[in-house]
Amino acid sequence: MGIQFFENEKIFKLDTNNTSYCIALVDAFGYIGHAYYGKKISDTDLSYLTRIYEAPYVPSRNARDKLSFLDSFPMEYPTHGIGDFREDCISVQTQKGHSALELGFVRYEILNGKPALEGLPATFGDNAQTLIITLRDTVTGVEADLYYSIFEDSDAIARSVKVRNAGDEAVYLTKVLSASLDMDDKDFELLTMHGSWARERHISRNPVNYGFQGVSSIRGESSHQHHPFLGLLTKGTTQQTGEVYGFHLVYSGNFTGMVYKGQFDNVRAMIGINAEDFCWKLETGEEFQAPEVILTYSEQGLGEMSRTYHDLYRRHLIRGEYKDKTRPILINNWEATYFNFDETKLLAIAKDAAKYGIEMLVMDDGWFGNRCDDNRALGDWFVNEDKLKGGLKNLVDQVNALGLKFGIWFEPEMISPDSDLYREHPDWAIAIPDREAGLCRNQYVLDLTRKEVREEIFNRVAAVLDSANIEYVKWDMNRQLADLGSLALPADRQGELCHRYVLAVYELQERLISRYPHLLLENCSGGGARFDPGMLYYSPQIWCSDDTDAIERLSIQEGTALIYPLSSMGAHVSDCPNHTVGRVTPFETRGYVALAGTFGYELDITKISEEDRNMIPKQVEMYHKYHMLVANGDYYRLASYGENHYHDAYMIVDKQKTEALLTYIQVINRPNRHSAKIRLQGLDPKKQYRLCRFDINTGEEVSFGYSKDAAPGASVSARERTYYGDTLMQAGILMDNLWGDFKGCLIHIKAV
Ligand code: DGJ
Repeated sequence: MGIQFFENEKIFKLDTNNTSYCIALVDAFGYIGHAYYGKKISDTDLSYLTRIYEAPYVPSRNARDKLSFLDSFPMEYPTHGIGDFREDCISVQTQKGHSALELGFVRYEILNGKPALEGLPATFGDNAQTLIITLRDTVTGVEADLYYSIFEDSDAIARSVKVRNAGDEAVYLTKVLSASLDMDDKDFELLTMHGSWARERHISRNPVNYGFQGVSSIRGESSHQHHPFLGLLTKGTTQQTGEVYGFHLVYSGNFTGMVYKGQFDNVRAMIGINAEDFCWKLETGEEFQAPEVILTYSEQGLGEMSRTYHDLYRRHLIRGEYKDKTRPILINNWEATYFNFDETKLLAIAKDAAKYGIEMLVMDDGWFGNRCDDNRALGDWFVNEDKLKGGLKNLVDQVNALGLKFGIWFEPEMISPDSDLYREHPDWAIAIPDREAGLCRNQYVLDLTRKEVREEIFNRVAAVLDSANIEYVKWDMNRQLADLGSLALPADRQGELCHRYVLAVYELQERLISRYPHLLLENCSGGGARFDPGMLYYSPQIWCSDDTDAIERLSIQEGTALIYPLSSMGAHVSDCPNHTVGRVTPFETRGYVALAGTFGYELDITKISEEDRNMIPKQVEMYHKYHMLVANGDYYRLASYGENHYHDAYMIVDKQKTEALLTYIQVINRPNRHSAKIRLQGLDPKKQYRLCRFDINTGEEVSFGYSKDAAPGASVSARERTYYGDTLMQAGILMDNLWGDFKGCLIHIKAV
């Protein structure tokens, strides 16, 4: 890997192990154009790819038709108002009310390593190299530093932008996207992820058409509804074939990601902070740091893209002690009790949990102030000792004495109108003066842009954490931002509120994990409304969705795993009928599906059936047997229930290709059908493997396979044999028809 500037060719070339990214410095003016991104190439003289030799319009040669040049040139960082009529990345408002910018090359620098992004989450790593290209608008003095980082052990490229006002008077930044990529259309499809509460990150694919297509959020968080990700795929791309360009924004607030197909069948893909509700004042000398985008290119379909993101996030984004450590199997009392609990109830759950091998009790919403339901008390982070008699320490000590760790829920960003905090500080809620702010779940959002608010909330949270041996925090956030007004910001800075809010959340979480380095932090937002790479920088796991139904989870987790490592997906076994959809699924299937994430329980263990309860120790065994493989291995998607409406299958292969785990879920049974043929992926074609099925009833592995001597019903040992990796991947295996709906099994594949 390496970054070079080729002086003669005026080409910046970034080579990762398998990809090249090339930027051309063209024309006397100093425009920088996008020349190439894709599979690694050898040449350096690549300016021709920007078409400057064929167009008669190059400004230095033909000033008369400059706009025609700008209308088609593949600009690396397009600006507003000068004649590139496609979507742009940056615009301003000057003191005179003008919005145009024209950025020309000033200088570049190539650094070893990767500078941190001030106040923002970002990938990190010593084995990185960074190119910084500085551009300048001579009229306003606005400068933009374009950052590109590559890593020795990844094919991803991290891009970001820092804008500086090097002019003489203040300007307002009205739009600043983080990256743009101009390409010729390769008959692209656009892959995006959409959803709703309890239905997050469902994958959607559509042909790229003329005009705009995209995703966005103006909810103040990345949202349940859309995800800050764009995938551009050549038509018909599968898990293993086709070219894929990925754009993933490392940000947790308002975003926009869009694709524009123009008159010359050129495609521009861009992503960054949503310009709606955004206006940032830059005084002379001030800088604005835009969030990072992770670009990936795969020539081997979606699967390779997923694995590139997984490895990058595991190695270069997720931090902290738990990053590579087995997470304790937790039991959370939310679906078990909702608000209706006291210390006796929690201890009863903890006692049974300990008996059955669970390792941590998490006390969810309802332990503070007069929080008897979701109408009140957010902000009053004081233990309700009527509910928890003897206090928190007493409870935690008793839970610890049972051999369990203890975790707690907070929703630090919120304030209920019916709370002591609100009665004391009604102005701390985000609201517009003289306009009644709208409620959501009967709560307002705290104006975290104010230092005194952050200070008070942090101190309250810290006081609770200091009062007992608390080893896990679930940080929840249950409403979106609206009625955008901050009493602390002047009129011409109100447009900074949403981004300042996100920065404040980041600051609080950074403070939390710095002060409590051994804490396991799990982010959550009404389920998965803030499941994004920004939050992953602070917490190694994020609650994936409030929908814990095993079948609904298949699509949610498939979408999530398209980009995120399985170790980050909060997934629990819950009770049935499922509280969101009323579906009844086998307890074992719930376990197999939750195994693809952090694994835990979300039920009243004292009330579930004896049969289900007795399966818990076996599931605990299953987790300990396979979790590290699931958390650290390579992910391969074999079949998608969302696509075939019949079954789901995925596997994880360890890096040495000596071990793999296949999860197979048969969602709907069908009469009179063949066994299902599943072709495995990711194995070593030359290695021989033995297959075993995990038996949930015994916790043992039993041989899985076929031999001519093994008639149906033959003994397990008669079925024992080995297969070459190439056989398993090309010819496949046959999955017996399972009896009933919502059934599943795990197949452990081991090299012999
Ligand atoms: C939403 C979360 O996603 C749930 O798991 C639970 O913590 C509730 N909030 C509590 O109010």
